Amino acid sequence: MSELVQVTDEGPVRTVRMNRPEKKNALTLPMYDAMAAAIAEAGQNTALRCLLIAGTPAGFCAGNDIGDFLKMAVEGGALGQPILRFLYALARCEKPLVAAVQGNAVGVGTTMLLHCDHVVAGTDARFVTPFVGLGLVPEAASSLIAPRLMGRARAFSLLVMGRPLSAEQARDAGLINTVVPPDAVEAEAMKAATEIAALPPQGVLASRRLMRGEPDEVVARIDEEAELFKTRLTSAEARAAFEAFMMRKR
Ligand code: COA
Repeated sequence: MSELVQVTDEGPVRTVRMNRPEKKNALTLPMYDAMAAAIAEAGQNTALRCLLIAGTPAGFCAGNDIGDFLKMAVEGGALGQPILRFLYALARCEKPLVAAVQGNAVGVGTTMLLHCDHVVAGTDARFVTPFVGLGLVPEAASSLIAPRLMGRARAFSLLVMGRPLSAEQARDAGLINTVVPPDAVEAEAMKAATEIAALPPQGVLASRRLMRGEPDEVVARIDEEAELFKTRLTSAEARAAFEAFMMRKR
């Protein structure tokens, strides 16, 4: 298991923590793989009743590693299999997913939250999906789930225009549940996870299934987006945007 993803089981709650703070938790392929495995394995483990996805105080997740995007573009544009494994694991996960968000949640850092059941964020949280500005298209079935969740107008502003949401705006949009001071995020998220884990598990499972429906529609959209993503990744627009980020002066 990569140290860049830490997996800790405390009683019935599994915490999956992105731990690459020096790169603001930008996700590399081995990190996706580790997260996919931790989520899928939790599904098979009857002792585990809830998953908690967390980042670090430096930020929740800066999205896909842009250096990796460049490599994928050079190699023909296919989204790495570990990314798809992670997205499928989220979509097919039967156990409740809680998230604890401090700081920036960029790209997949925001779209993974659309698969979560309960999200706690700090007042410092910022949610942004700059896909289109990077020459890409939305992923993780966000093009399906976000309009349903927050309405088409707000989803367009987020997913296409790339306008960020503050923690308060994200709560108003239904993306997150609770806003607390940054240093209270982890405790509040663990409290929610523990509360969910204490409920009768079969009742939680059945209710969650009823609320979500079959995951096949979501998985099909992940695949449809991935096909388009492949074309976009190899576009001159995307290549220029990635190179600009890698070369930027700060
Ligand atoms: N891929 C690769 N490296 C990334 C990264 C990413 N997605 N996000 C951040 N980093 C790296 C930076 O290059 C920098 O590396 P360096 O110290 O070696 O120069 C380090 O992480 C810290 O980032 P920095 O930009 O200095 O932090 P910040 O707090 O000022 O800003 C973000 C944080 C997340 C707002 C900013 O880094 C950002 O916008 N990242 C790109 C996000 C993105 O577009 N992701 C793709 C979504 S589809």
